[in-house]
Amino acid sequence: DHGDGKFLRMLMFGKPGAGKGTLSGRLVKKYDITSLSAGDLLRQQIAERTEVGRTAESIVASGGLVSDDIMLKIVSSKLDQLRNKHWILDGFPRTLPQGEMLDEALHTRGTPLTLIVNLDVPDEVILSRISDRWIHLPSGRVYNMSYNRPKVEGFDDVTGEPLTKRPDDNPEIFARRLKQFYESTSPLLAYFASKPSSATKLVTLRGETSDEIWPQLESVVTGTFPSLRERVEPKEERR
Ligand code: AP5
Ligand code: MG
Repeated sequence: DHGDGKFLRMLMFGKPGAGKGTLSGRLVKKYDITSLSAGDLLRQQIAERTEVGRTAESIVASGGLVSDDIMLKIVSSKLDQLRNKHWILDGFPRTLPQGEMLDEALHTRGTPLTLIVNLDVPDEVILSRISDRWIHLPSGRVYNMSYNRPKVEGFDDVTGEPLTKRPDDNPEIFARRLKQFYESTSPLLAYFASKPSSATKLVTLRGETSDEIWPQLESVVTGTFPSLRERVEPKEERR
């Protein structure tokens, strides 16, 4: 038993393009859950030209990893706002030191992780999706021209604002992001598995499309956290 009556405090873990943002968005839209995407936070800082944004811009555009210090600064300032909420972290932690720092920060707050979901999608499936992806930058909403098209081409369904392409969504940069994943991020899985905790459940979901993975994800989440409530008025996902 990992969460009867307790809070969902979840990591959405997976390769670039595995569907972390898409699946978090579906959960947030249907259930009373808050999601925090490290990539979305960085893209917002870059768009606002903050100090962090100016440092991160070329790193993100080239498919590298932003420093652990900066990432921790961005994320830990948000953790306090998640108290007494069901939440999902997407894209953080992404290195072993980030994983250790997150564990410690959550431990100090008395709010350890309760679920880690590892999305396992084959590389060749992911590569074909990326060039079709469009995003709504302020919300992080994700669209795809061959799957999940916007109602009006080029514009966000909710706000009507224009969609943009991510500068790191081209085959060359994507290959570097995938390489970074294997080098720096995938070792986190062994780290999570090596510290079995009765509070934290670790599951791997396999599938070639989010439509295969979604029913599995939904049943794990609702089965493990029966206190989770559906939104009364299905709210548009807010990220
Ligand atoms: P981030 O934004 O987190 O990028 P990422 O991990 O590379 O993941 P993506 O957002 O590309 O993919 P996703 O898994 O969310 O998939 P999505 O749902 O969009 O990070 C960007 C950069 O920021 C990093 O490279 C790094 O530089 C920096 N950064 C971020 N966090 C950091 C950290 N902690 N430390 C250091 N640096 C950090 O889906 C992908 C596509 O597939 C979409 O087009 C979608 O529509 C499509 N799709 C989804 N489901 C289906 C389906 N069923 N069928 C067909 N297409 C589908
Ligand atoms: Mg994403």
